[in-house]
This record gives sequence, C-alpha cells and structure tokens, in this order.
Amino acid sequence: MTRFPNVALLFGLAALGLAACGEAPPPAAAPERFTIAEPGPIPVTEQQPGDPVAGYRTVVNRGYVTCGIPYDAFRSSGLLEAGEPRLSGREGRNAELPYMFNSTVSGEGVELVVSNCLTCHASEFEGELVVGLGNPLLDFTNDPSVNAELLGAFVEDGAPAAAWAKWADRIAAIAPYMVTDTVGVNPAPNLTLALIAHRDPATLAWSAEPRLEPPPREPLPTKVPPWWRMQHKAAMFYNGSGRGDHVRYMMMKSLVCTDDIGEAAEIAEWFRDVRAYIASLEPPAYPFPVDEELAAQGEKVFAGTCAGCHGSYGADRAYPNLLIDLEVVGTDPAYARQAVESERFVRWFNRSFYGQGAEAMPALGYVAPPLDAVWATAPYLHNGSIPSIAALLDSTQRPTYWQMDTEPRQYDPDTLGWRFEALEFGKEAVEDLQRAKRIYDTTRHGYGNQGHQFGDALGEQERSALVEYLKTL
Ligand code: HEC
Ligand code: HEC
Repeated sequence: MTRFPNVALLFGLAALGLAACGEAPPPAAAPERFTIAEPGPIPVTEQQPGDPVAGYRTVVNRGYVTCGIPYDAFRSSGLLEAGEPRLSGREGRNAELPYMFNSTVSGEGVELVVSNCLTCHASEFEGELVVGLGNPLLDFTNDPSVNAELLGAFVEDGAPAAAWAKWADRIAAIAPYMVTDTVGVNPAPNLTLALIAHRDPATLAWSAEPRLEPPPREPLPTKVPPWWRMQHKAAMFYNGSGRGDHVRYMMMKSLVCTDDIGEAAEIAEWFRDVRAYIASLEPPAYPFPVDEELAAQGEKVFAGTCAGCHGSYGADRAYPNLLIDLEVVGTDPAYARQAVESERFVRWFNRSFYGQGAEAMPALGYVAPPLDAVWATAPYLHNGSIPSIAALLDSTQRPTYWQMDTEPRQYDPDTLGWRFEALEFGKEAVEDLQRAKRIYDTTRHGYGNQGHQFGDALGEQERSALVEYLKTL
C-alpha cells in the first residue's frame, strides 16, 4: 500500500537540510495549528495530480465508506428499489444498486452496501440526474438510527451481524447531531464534527464515548454546493476553511467507519483521482432559451456590480477567490461563527491524518463563489435561505416563510429557482408536523435570509438583465 508522503514532514526535512548547510534554522514545529483566516484573497495551493477518469470510477464503485448494510439484508428489506441505478460506469454489483450506494466487501468477507458521495452530491434537473449538483430535497428530519435498527431484523447471524452492528453503532453515535427541523437543509458539517469527537487524531481509533465535547445537537442548515466550483476554488467550504490539500477534505466521509491510518492512507491514495475528477467536472449548460440581447446588457451590469467579488466569465475568465468579511456580505453569521468557535475540532483536524498537507482555517466571512451554472443550484446562500435569484437580487422579494412546491417540483426560468409558496406564518403556526418540516422559516437561528444586498440599488430592468446573463454562465 502506498501512502502520500506527509507534506509537513517533507517541509521539515527540507528545513533540516538547509540548517545543515548553515542557513536558516528550521521553523518551530506546530503540532496543533489554529489560525482564524483574515478576509481577502485566499492563496492558491498546488493540488496533487490524479486521473479524473479513475476518480469517477472510484466515486461510483468503491467502498470509501467501509461499513454499511450487509447486501443480503439490503435486498431482503426491499432497499434495492429505493432508487433507480441511473449512473454510467457502474461495475459488478454496483450496476444494480440505487445510485447513492456502492458495493464493497468487508475485511471479514461480508458483502456490504455502503453510501457514497452522491446521496448529497447528485440531483435531478429536468429529468436528468446531474452528478455534482447538490440535492436540495433530502430529508434529514428523522432519526436515522431508527431505520438502522429496523434493518437489523433482516441481517443473518455471524459475520453479517457483526458488520451491521458496527455500522448501526456509528449511526447511533451521530444521529443526535444530524436531525434537522427542515426538509432540504443538510447537516453534513455538524455530522462531521460529531464523528471527529469520537476519534483519536493520531490513530483514528474509535471510542464509544466522545473524546471531545460534541458539537451542539441542532445542526446549522447548509446547502450542498455544486462540485464544478472546485476547479476554481482555492479552498473548500463556504467559509474557505478547507485549505491546503483538498484530497484530505474530500475523503472525510471515511470518518464514519475508518478506524486506522492504514485504511485511511489507502483511501487518500484513491482520492487523488477523485479530486482530479471533481476538479475536471464542467457545469451543465442552461437548458431553456436565453434572450441574448438582454443577457449582453446583464453582462455589463455584472461587470460593474458583481465581478469584483465573483470574478468574470467567458473568454477572459478571472476568479479572485475572495473571502468576504461577515460585516460586508451581511448574510447569516451563525455558520461562520460556529466554525470559529469550534477550535477543538479544528485543532483535532490539523493534527490528525486528515490534516497532513492540509490546514483547516475558519474565518468570520464567506467565500464569494464562482457562479458557473448557479441557475441550477437553488435555493441560494450557504444556508439555502433564498428560493430564487430574483429574490436574492431584490431583498424586498425575499419570503420570511416559504415552502418549495414539490408536487411536482417545477423550475421557474424567470426567477431561477424552484417554484415556491410564500407563507404568512412559520412552523409554530402549523399543527401538522410533516407540513411544518417543509416550511423554511428564516427567523430561526442560522436560517436567516438577510444581507447580500448588492442587487438592491439596481433598477428593475438591470436586475432582469442580470438574471438573463446568469443563465449563460
Ligand atoms: C451528507 C451529505 C454529504 C455527503 C454524503 C458528502 N457531502 Fe460533500 N458537502 C456536503 C455539504 C453540506 C457541503 C458544504 C459544507 C460546507 O461548506 O461547510 C459539502 C462540501 C463539499 C465540497 C466543497 C465544495 C465547495 O464549493 O467548497 C466537496 C468538494 C465535497 N463536498 C465533496 C464530497 C465528496 C467527494 C464526498 C464523498 C466522499 C462528499 N462530499 C460527501 C454534503 C455532503
Ligand atoms: C462584496 C462581495 C460581493 C458582491 C459585490 C456580490 N456578491 Fe454575490 N456573494 C458574495 C458572497 C460572500 C456570497 C456567499 C454568501 C453566503 O453564502 O452567505 C455570495 C453569494 C452569491 C450568490 C449565491 C450563490 C449560491 O450558490 O448560493 C449569487 C447568485 C450571487 N452572490 C450573485 C451576485 C450578483 C449577481 C452580484 C451583483 C449584483 C453579487 N453577487 C455581488 C459576495 C458578493
């Protein structure tokens, strides 16, 4: 098994070499790094090379999550029908599984069905499953450990039962930190912190009791960003905290089951290709008609009002990778603040296997993202609080309470979002719990839709020209 050399170690050796020649002394070792990043341009770091084709093959075929549901139990419980297997390039057993699952074999020889990245990172647009488009319809409002327990009834004794028990234990440990109160928002960051709390940073060994104080129970809402931004972004995540080697962040789903460095090192090796695949992904093209003349007017408005933060597109493309201060962007601060207050998790990451060659650096701000195919990514902002671009650009149009129309879900080409209903009331006013869960209530902690008022000063005509232009990105 090959292992990516520890970049910090390489730097250390280089420094020693210099010292031996009587030049600069080696820099002091920094075993636990915790830096809060300043707003401004995020430096670009060179990424590991990899093979994009092999990376896609890994995403849709390999067991980078190494615990899961024994295949026999998966089949007999009816889960094979949980979704269509609609992906190209699926090999062997993978070809018959719903797209959000991969097949693997445990160390004990049990055939397992494990979840893959596409649970969150694939979604339908106009009838097509788009790999890389975040799924805004996922429902994390129920306790996942209930279903994990129910599946136990289908598991055979012996090795399959032991395999199921490991997975069910992990789900039970993180379940309290991943239940949201709103359908469509994603708890992935909090879930990751809950997993970190149970692991030794040096060995990745799992302990049943948390080793660190766990994160707050209620996850802050996030939206799943599209993968095709990564070819332009210097740092991962909404606050730009994912600096250095992106491989180490992209493989963090392995935190669910990977209990030793040997296994993590093997997955890191595969993920050099996964990173290359994600960085090669092109955005989809807008599938409806575009008024080219209006879009050309919009391009001018964009150049004057938006490009300074979001970059310019087309032939002379330039993206500045700017981290914008909370005070300037003004959007809901809870996510950025919580990351800065999560010092223990940042320190854990930076001294763990995952932090080799990478350094998590939270900040009191958000990255102005590349806007390629942004029309496909509603609802908007890091917390998915604004249902359309029309409403993002005119803050008087933002609903305080809203609900996506889901039967059927319909795209609105005039506003660039999914059709929704604005409501006069929040969750508390609704007795039916299932209905209440579908209401996005912007008055709740972390769910705010304020800020980013950069479109407000524009005229009606300029705003519709901008909307038309964004269709061309
Ligand atoms: C449970 C849902 C979920 C799963 C599963 C998941 N992700 Fe994510 N992913 C998210 C969310 C939510 C974010 C945004 C987090 C943030 O910025 O704090 C994200 C962010 C990312 C980003 C950063 C994008 C950007 O613009 O900064 C990449 C790349 C990524 N995920 C890759 C992966 C890969 C590869 C896998 C599988 C190994 C995976 N994710 C599995 C939910 C998920
Ligand atoms: C001062 C910098 C700045 C300016 C100017 C600016 N933006 Fe933004 N924009 C941001 C930041 C930062 C975010 C992310 C905020 C968040 O997620 O909370 C953002 C988010 C967005 C998003 C949402 C992306 C998504 O996937 O949710 C869109 C769309 C957008 N901006 C369009 C525009 C347009 C159009 C203009 C010009 C009218 C503009 N922005 C001007 C900084 C800026």
